[in-house]
Amino acid sequence: MPLSRSELDSMQPSSRSIHAGSTVRLGDAQPTALPIHVATAFTYPTTEELDGVFADNSSGYVYSRFGNPTVNALEEAVAAIEGSAAAVAYGSGMAAIHGIVAAIARPGSTVIASRDVYGATHALLGGYLSDNGVRTIFVDIRDLDGLESLAREHKPALIFAETVSNPLMRVANVRRIAAIAHAIGANFVLDNTFATPVVTRAIALGADAVVYSSTKHYGGHGDTTGGLVATSNEIAHKLREQNKLIGAIAAPFDAWLVLRGLRTLDLRVRKQSANAAELVAWLERNDRVESVNYPGLQSDLPVDQFCDGLHGTMLSFEIRGAGRNEVFRFQDTLRLIQPATTLGDIGSLVLHPATSSHRGLTPEQRAEIGIADGLVRVSAGIEDARDIIADLDQALDVALAR
Ligand SMILES: Cc1ncc(COP(=O)(O)O)c(C=O)c1O
Repeated sequence: MPLSRSELDSMQPSSRSIHAGSTVRLGDAQPTALPIHVATAFTYPTTEELDGVFADNSSGYVYSRFGNPTVNALEEAVAAIEGSAAAVAYGSGMAAIHGIVAAIARPGSTVIASRDVYGATHALLGGYLSDNGVRTIFVDIRDLDGLESLAREHKPALIFAETVSNPLMRVANVRRIAAIAHAIGANFVLDNTFATPVVTRAIALGADAVVYSSTKHYGGHGDTTGGLVATSNEIAHKLREQNKLIGAIAAPFDAWLVLRGLRTLDLRVRKQSANAAELVAWLERNDRVESVNYPGLQSDLPVDQFCDGLHGTMLSFEIRGAGRNEVFRFQDTLRLIQPATTLGDIGSLVLHPATSSHRGLTPEQRAEIGIADGLVRVSAGIEDARDIIADLDQALDVALAR
């Protein structure tokens, strides 16, 4: 029970300043926006009741590392959007990826992962987790026959893929990979960050767990870092128990930002995807452009994994005859589009893979996977497509001026 005014009046000023005004009673009123519950711990009228919550005999909150109302609200919203039984929020996308892989792949087990996963995911699987006894075999995830025979031979605990790869936008066949994993009793974990649930309904297509960097489209405004796993109740329970020890939790304020961001996820991704398609059409007609990468341009596309004909917000293109200097000049000349190491924001963004996401590779390694020095990745924002195109146009002119 909060201290009454007369109890506070009987205390010294220093004690009053600690306890006065610390609870606000709303009565029956329900706020129209979710409060950010920043409390570290939660108290109950009696210690008996607290004990019941601790023992899981009654629902409630005890300590924010174990659970927090604002974070839980985000998790409920994400599960509803993804069509999963549950979801767990993390402090970053990498924390979410580590959480789900470590929960499923025990030391001694094998993971099969797509060769062109996000760089930090590659390093996590091939370095950090491998040092801790989890072996990862990296494969071309589009070679489904090869994947199937490797899966039969090595019996992995999980198969890990990204729906759309960075930066060449190669598409993984989600339904087919899920079938290959399930035939040998493996879990299929899909990083759906690039595609988003608006474009690809990963749970419905058979993924056992879907991971996101909510830093990207889910948050959508470039002002939060977070991760999400949407999955079954059973796996979510494991992740929560693991997080009681690891503590890779989302902070309430970040959870609130993602919760506010996701209210417009559908609107944003539809507009961004429409803009991306317009940029692709313009780039394809442009003689200053060598090639364009976009899921919608791929011939063997698993069409049913792209909802409503949307092909996503992300594309890349190679500037004809450009090397590092031309791309730097291109980026420095952009006015509306920001060169930034992120994606999925309301504002359009570009990134130069050769000197950012893939700078750790040798030029030969980059050439082998098709990442030229003139390649630029674009994350389409929600501006008017005509203004994005005008900015690309003037920056290409300056970049290629002799
Ligand atoms: C596809 C993908 N997965 C995971 C991550 C990691 O997310 P975070 O930076 O939130 O840890 C990123 C980051 O760029 C990403 O692009």
